Order: sequence, then structure tokens, then C-alpha cells
Amino acid sequence: MEVIEKPKAMQQRSLELRAQGKTIGFVPTMGYFHEGHLSLMRRARRECDVVVISIYVNPLQFGPREDFNRYPRDLPRDLKMAEEVGVDIAFVPKDEDMYPDGFQTFVEVTELTKGLEGFHRPGHFRGVTTVVAKLFNIVLPHKAYFGEKDFQQLRVVQRMVRDLNFPIEIVPCPTVREPDGLAMSSRNSYLSPQERQAATVLQRALKAADDLFRQGERNAALLKAKVWEVLGKEPLVRPQYVEIVDAETLAPVFSIERPAVILLAAFVGNARLIDEWVLE
Ligand code: PAJ
Repeated sequence: MEVIEKPKAMQQRSLELRAQGKTIGFVPTMGYFHEGHLSLMRRARRECDVVVISIYVNPLQFGPREDFNRYPRDLPRDLKMAEEVGVDIAFVPKDEDMYPDGFQTFVEVTELTKGLEGFHRPGHFRGVTTVVAKLFNIVLPHKAYFGEKDFQQLRVVQRMVRDLNFPIEIVPCPTVREPDGLAMSSRNSYLSPQERQAATVLQRALKAADDLFRQGERNAALLKAKVWEVLGKEPLVRPQYVEIVDAETLAPVFSIERPAVILLAAFVGNARLIDEWVLE
């Protein structure tokens, strides 16, 4: 596996590969890999000639009171795991090369980012779309793989790609969960054993609403109330929001007649976890 640090060198490499007629699959990440990340890489491996990943904890997408400094990092372990799943190139840029002095250009998706994560993490998606646009211009992929775990991020990136005519296919990938249902996340490493156990309530709450939905309940307010009720049974969990939105537009839904998704965020100890569950 090649490891490339400099944006210019990465772009040159991608141009060469493209000139050879190779298709490039790209998985952008912030590292500290788990099966969720690896599932995206394996999918890219199956679908593309060359698989490029990036590992970059993007300071621009963290708020001033968020966990940028303590975000878990283990580059040697990540590189080994990526190599094992057959990644060809790891792009691992430095802050000073991504945001050199004088940097002043940003990409913003204005509407899809107003609610949900965007509301609770002001500036977050501006940081995400700016770095993803830069990474797309550096890696020049044909396809890029994003997890449904970060459901709003996926929709925001799809919107950016359409609006700015990036010649890239965005491939959505299902959320990978632990055996007890907890969505895999680098931030799960913040959880104490007790908090880790408590965090399983997120999955139980989503499942409880899904059960009602399958029994025919279509009233979003009632389904949300069920999620809150189940979350409320776990004192270590402090829910921040629970919303049911249209799975395509992320607009609030009152009666579910088209695919919708339950999105939630909750603090467990000092970890802020998010999860999603599609109702269809
Ligand atoms: P990160 O949180 O490292 O996630 C990288 C990719 O892995 C994202 O597409 C995310 O949705 C996906 N992912 C994370 N957990 C997953 C799980 N349990 N199942 C399936 N996919 C999962 O998301 C980011 O990094 C950053 O915002 C980034 C896009 C790299 C921009 O900085």
C-alpha cells in the first residue's frame, strides 16, 4: 500500500491512474477504523480498479467545544487494517497542506444543513463539505463511498455533488452495527463499560418505533414519542434530538407515506452518539 502525504503528489498519482484507464474508488475517513469503515473499503475494492482512502481529522468540522483534540487517532493501526482489506493508496495529509496560511474558500450546502446535526453543530457541515470537495479535487475518484450512519452527511454530500457538478458517483453504504445493535463509531471508544452497556438503548428505542411502524402506525409524533419513552429508561443516556424526516429531502414528516428515517443524537457520558433507522 502506498502512503501519500502531499496533496499535489496524490493528485498526480490519480491523474496517472486515470490516464491508464483505471477506475478510482475513494473512502474519505477520519481514521480510528472499525468494521463500518472497512465495509466501505471492501465495497470499493469490489467495484473499482484502485482503492484510495484518506485519513484526516478535519479541524474545520469540529466546533470550539467539541472533541477535536481528543478524537481517537492510531495511524499505524489504521494503515495495517487498510492494507489488509486491499486498499492501494492511503492519503494522509497534514493540516498545513490542507489549510495553508491564507486559506479562505469554503463550500456550503445551505438548506439541508439547517436542521438535525447542522442545528446542534453550527459550522459542522461547512467543514465537511469544504474538506470533501478538496479531497474530491485531490483524489479525483470515479466513485466515493459514504455510510448511512451519518445520514445527513450523506444527503449533504450528494447535494453538493449535484449542485457543483462533481463527476463522481456517491455510493451509500448501510450502517454496520455491533452484535448488540450499537452502530459502530470511532467515538464509542469514549464509553466506559457501563456507558457502553447503556448505549444499547439507542438501538432498542429505534427498534421499538420500527415495531410500531410495522404494525401499521404511520403517525410520526407517536413513533417519536416511543423512541423518547425507551431512551428515557436509561439514566446514563441524555438524548439531544429525535426526528423523523423524509429519507430523501430530510424534511420533517408528520404522516409516513414515503420512506422516512428516524435520526437521533444522544450524549452517553461525554460521547455524543448519533444513529439512524430507515422506515419503509
Ligand atoms: P468518519 O466518521 O471517519 O467516517 C468515515 C465514513 O465511514 C463516513 O462515510 C461514515 O458515514 C462511515 N461510517 C462510520 N461509521 C459507520 C458505520 N457504523 N457503518 C457504516 N459506515 C460508517 O464521516 C467522516 O469521517 C468525516 O465527516 C469525513 C466524511 C471523512 C469528512 O471529514
